[in-house]
Amino acid sequence: MARSAPSHGPATFEAPPNIALVKYWGVRDPRLVLPYNSSISVTLARLRSRTRVRFDDDLRDDRVELNGAVAAGGPRAAVVAMLDVVRERSGVRARAEVVSENNFPTASGLASSASGFAALAGAASAAAGLELSPRELSRLARLGSGSASRSVFGGFVLWRAGSRADGRDSYARSLFDERHWPALVDVVALVENAPVKEVRSAEAMQATVRTSPDYPGRLETLPGRIDRIVRAIAARDADRLFPLVMEESDSFRGVCETTRPSLDYLTPGSRAVLAEVRALNRAAGRPVAAYTHDAGAHVHVFTLAPHLARVRRSIARVPGVRTTLVLRPGPGLHRVDPGSRTRAPRIPGRTGR
Ligand code: DP6
Repeated sequence: MARSAPSHGPATFEAPPNIALVKYWGVRDPRLVLPYNSSISVTLARLRSRTRVRFDDDLRDDRVELNGAVAAGGPRAAVVAMLDVVRERSGVRARAEVVSENNFPTASGLASSASGFAALAGAASAAAGLELSPRELSRLARLGSGSASRSVFGGFVLWRAGSRADGRDSYARSLFDERHWPALVDVVALVENAPVKEVRSAEAMQATVRTSPDYPGRLETLPGRIDRIVRAIAARDADRLFPLVMEESDSFRGVCETTRPSLDYLTPGSRAVLAEVRALNRAAGRPVAAYTHDAGAHVHVFTLAPHLARVRRSIARVPGVRTTLVLRPGPGLHRVDPGSRTRAPRIPGRTGR
């Protein structure tokens, strides 16, 4: 039997979540997580998953701890599948101990799978002695959760769908780093009674592909919309960007609602936030804010620093909004020393679980 390659000691990585401005929704290959469309996101500062991986010849099985509890079932299987890919590529045979925690609520619509799998890709590959480029890390993270491919990079990120059957051309890259547009802020409206996500997006999106009559039309409009969004971000032009972000969010919500059975991620509070943003823009006579949401109930409201106080106050007053969080574009995946700390945002009334 071939000898197992030596592993390289424990590795700890942190990765942030991201919010999609152009949604990834629908895969042409579920096993390799190859999407039908390219997507764009903003990587968020202050929120993070921190993951430590250690390969150990004495372990009889992989041990996965997520937010202080031993993982089982689907969540454990997804982690083990990524460890298997890393073992296959590195020659390391040993089982691993994975300890991961988020400094924000898991499965709340704040994209914990993106940050979690990006951090796991970094920590597992380093612990196995693989030295992967950011592009290779993005491809590896993609296998765990499509949106994780984007959390490898900071700032404004494009995940190109690619067209190859083996997925080598499906990875994310940085469009502009986190310093590109200092005035842009994301006011996250955390709504009351946000349902915990039970079905992974990877499954839900395939129901849309199969059943929504609007899905083919959405795919046709996306290349043009992506082009316009990239140009608006490049020019730091909120007047152009904000309507496009809402148009895309409406398109995503539209294909979810026309999926059979219908996918409805929003609460009455979320819908009231969308209405409030429309009202703010009407009152200002121009787009001062833009809403978007992923497959969850919380709503991200982008605005510019001069409007922040007013927009935040209006959103915080909307019935059904529990609290607001102000986030900015931040850096992507990085290695951390075991003792280092990221300043956690205060999210009242909830623990980190
Ligand atoms: C709506 O890649 O996060 O957030 O890991 O299965 O939950 P799962 O899938 P994931 O799907 C993301 C879908 C989305 C849009 C996006 O982030 O682009």
